[in-house]
Amino acid sequence: MYYPEELVEEVRSKNDIVEVVSGYVKLQRKGNNHWGCCPFHNEKTPSFSVNGPKQMYHCFGCGVSGNVYTFVMKYENYSFPEAVRFLAGRAGVQLPELEYTDEMRRKESKRARLLEVNKAAAKFFYYQLRTPRGTLGYQYLQKRQLSDETMHKFGLGYAGKNGEDLVRYLREKGFEDELIKESGLASFSEKRGLVSPFWNRVMFPIQDGNHRVIGFGGRVMGDGEPKYLNSPETPIFDKRRNLYGLNFARTARSGNIILCEGYMDVIAMHQAGFHQAVASLGTAFTLEQAGLLRRYTENVLLAYDSDGAGVKAALRGIGILREAGLTGRVINMKPYKDPDEFMKACGREAFQERIDQAENSFFFEIRILEGQYDMRDPEQKTRFHREIARKLCDFTEDVERENYLQAVADKYFIGAENLRRLVVSYASRTGLARPVERPKPGTRQKNSPQESARRSQRLLVTWITDEPAIYGKIRQYISPEDFTEEMYRKVAGRLFEQLEQGQFRPADIISMFEDEEEQKQAAEIFNTSLPKLQTGQEREKALHDILMAVKKNRYEYDTANMGTDMGALNRVIEGKRALEELAKTHISL
Ligand code: UTP
Ligand code: MN
Repeated sequence: MYYPEELVEEVRSKNDIVEVVSGYVKLQRKGNNHWGCCPFHNEKTPSFSVNGPKQMYHCFGCGVSGNVYTFVMKYENYSFPEAVRFLAGRAGVQLPELEYTDEMRRKESKRARLLEVNKAAAKFFYYQLRTPRGTLGYQYLQKRQLSDETMHKFGLGYAGKNGEDLVRYLREKGFEDELIKESGLASFSEKRGLVSPFWNRVMFPIQDGNHRVIGFGGRVMGDGEPKYLNSPETPIFDKRRNLYGLNFARTARSGNIILCEGYMDVIAMHQAGFHQAVASLGTAFTLEQAGLLRRYTENVLLAYDSDGAGVKAALRGIGILREAGLTGRVINMKPYKDPDEFMKACGREAFQERIDQAENSFFFEIRILEGQYDMRDPEQKTRFHREIARKLCDFTEDVERENYLQAVADKYFIGAENLRRLVVSYASRTGLARPVERPKPGTRQKNSPQESARRSQRLLVTWITDEPAIYGKIRQYISPEDFTEEMYRKVAGRLFEQLEQGQFRPADIISMFEDEEEQKQAAEIFNTSLPKLQTGQEREKALHDILMAVKKNRYEYDTANMGTDMGALNRVIEGKRALEELAKTHISL
């Protein structure tokens, strides 16, 4: 760990988790817990709880849990040291200056190096565009009516005439071939060695929410295939979880976000003053991206192309937005193809009008649907009405459904009474409210001995954290060394230490682990509820069984791994004795 543990703990204790989470999620207090909609999965009813006394959070919907560090790591995409720095800044805790030692260099994560190489490449492209060699690119962007200011804001660049200059530049800057390859900025070929696929293209750096370059899109200047070449997915470039333009849109505070199809659309929109425009990254809009948007707004405006493909994409997008609990409206771009063209032809004010007139996504869907039926044919007309009824059933809230029913009935001249009957009949056949989606529990495999050993160790730590008082009853029989699983041994070590001192700070234990996956596992220990045992006798027996299982596992583990080590032999003998004694002992609760 880069920072001393005491400091990590000080920073943690000075950042109240309820306050920190409140900065991101709307929370409501109920008893000891605060509740809100989980920012890590999509839901409409709150199942995300933040516990003040424990300083932990847990989502009953998707199962995430952790402390204030895990929260900001997950939410802000921070590494552990980044989270420490962020929270220290927030609480005004002074951190020691870090010396950049060799040791730390080694530790510097792969992600950080990938960010560096991308940043260097972005600089290279940016610079190329502004030298005589980049004239072609510069002229192309000018022809697309982008101002110098816009080109600068988006860090637009130009990849040189060949795929070799970039590689040479990056090597000069000290980036290893392996890293360059992993970033997708170049690949090996038998004939030419390491070369970049990006050449003779204008370059669009793709930034994450914190303005860090995570990948690139490169456009041919004119016609050619592919029109855009994008960086491949890398540890820092997750196309499902980032949006082009979000680094600016997240602070636009315009009350809505405009979702476009292309990079050029976003840029044109920003140039015209719509700083809330974003686009997906050369792939279809995802639920993860909708989740991202939900942090900033409830209103998403779709500014998709007006052609058939655009309409299809919009319909798909609406479904995703709805699933994420967002309201979508559709901007009509006609007679122009996309926002870029619209803006050039009609300008800012006209577009604002289109925003104000944006169509409610439900009516948009119905209107598209209408086009598929011949209303002069009674049969088809009925099918259309049934389809409307089916769609109305997607509204789980009665008032909302009724409002839409009235509105759509008026608009399409359907008797509201008749439509309601259709809805009721459809609903009674299928069940009106769609079941709440819960992540499927992993398919349970038959327990291996290793698995059951792990399970009993886990049960024991969980039980103690759930009911710290039992520690007093068993402390003479158990020590951290009884845990063969490293994670549980670490947790038990700190936990027992705290309990010996009469303290219990689960959130502190989690920050012992640097790795996000480990933190998650540690957090789970504190959020698993144990099966409820009825009688005191049942509880005593269960505890005894678990203790025995843990002890026995240690003994068997030592026996199996004894070798010629004398220390191990002693432990085995000692273990056997402890086991026999425990077998005879009654622990009363
Ligand atoms: P478009 O073809 O609509 O491009 O693709 P555009 O953004 O409007 O660009 P211009 O105005 O023609 O220059 C929309 C988006 O789809 C992805 C890109 O993200 C693009 O911005 N795309 C498209 C690709 O990734 N590769 C392609 O070959 C084409
Ligand atoms: Mn386009």
